[in-house]
Amino acid sequence: MDSTTPQVAVKARRGTIVGARIEGIGAAVPDNVVTNHDLEQRIDTSDEWIRTRTGIVERRIAPPEIACSDLAAKAAERALENAGVAPDEIDALILGTATPDTPFPSTACWVQAKVGLRKVPVFDISAACSGFLYGYILADSLVRTGTARKVLVIGAEVLSKILNWEDRTTCVLFGDGAGAAVIGPRDEGSGLLAHTWGADGNLAPLLWQPAGGSRTPATVETVEQRLHTIHMKGNEVYKHAVKAMQGAVLEVMEKAGVTEEDIDLFVPHQANIRIMQATAERAGIPLEKVYRTIQKYGNSSAASIPVALADAAAEGRIRKGDLVLTAAFGAGFTWAAALFRW
Ligand code: UT7
Repeated sequence: MDSTTPQVAVKARRGTIVGARIEGIGAAVPDNVVTNHDLEQRIDTSDEWIRTRTGIVERRIAPPEIACSDLAAKAAERALENAGVAPDEIDALILGTATPDTPFPSTACWVQAKVGLRKVPVFDISAACSGFLYGYILADSLVRTGTARKVLVIGAEVLSKILNWEDRTTCVLFGDGAGAAVIGPRDEGSGLLAHTWGADGNLAPLLWQPAGGSRTPATVETVEQRLHTIHMKGNEVYKHAVKAMQGAVLEVMEKAGVTEEDIDLFVPHQANIRIMQATAERAGIPLEKVYRTIQKYGNSSAASIPVALADAAAEGRIRKGDLVLTAAFGAGFTWAAALFRW
């Protein structure tokens, strides 16, 4: 399902009235840093392999007592403060995660209680690394239709809890974190210009957590076989990721009628530096416009884009009026791209 605001398809210039905007952004990552050198001590890997194949140098890993909602709530409070919005102004909360506190209730419910939101609708979406962009696109339609005025959208993960720390093909790749955005009504010139989102469930077994759901409930055997951890055919995922991300960014740029020169910053999902570079190259976006956090956080799935947006805003890499392109790809497979004016 795709959609673009009709007037935006023809005109995406500064000053055009467009969709719901990000009013405030915030992030929270655990303090604990685990470097590639730390991992060299535990498994058969090397800093050189991880850095050259992925771009990752270190990642943040949550301590045992920290769950998804703890990071999510902290990020949400920072986003609210950044937006100058009180918790009771929020009309809905959408939270993307693959590592919920509990299968039910949703992590959004735990966050609602922690942040002190009113008794508004709150729910999780399971779209893996595309979770934040799916959330932004949904929030945009809630705001456009008048169903909600302000929506909190969060991407949060504690992937360290579902990693097999003896599997070098996955455990070196991921990290923990949360990012949140307050989505509110457009103001002049800012907001979502164009988006695309999609999924292909035929490819689900290339990246998944096999046990713990109704297909394979938890047993002693599933735990012994490490079936509650991330299983990924990395090389195959890589090829699909490049193709889907490239297609998605070209599609949104065309829909909005913008060229690579109009883009101020490209903030891709941070899974692999080579995927990010290949996507940027295909779209003609120079590498200096590609924002990277992968070196310090690894792949934090649904959190990676909002954390990167928060860091970029804090560093002054995104300023009011800038045209920002984002794109994600993840388990499902799912993908999404969004082009918006900050
Ligand atoms: O965020 C959601 C979507 N996820 C992604 O987009 C991830 C997509 N995939 C990737 O980023 C890459 O495929 C990986 C980084 C996961 C792997 O890189 P690759 O270049 O595709 O490597 P590979 O899987 O083809 O493995 C190459 C070699 C293998 O050895 P042999 O069989 O050639 O002897 C692996 O065993 O690298 C070996 N290897 C490692 N060596 C040292 C795999 N993991 C490691 C490791 N340290 N941690």
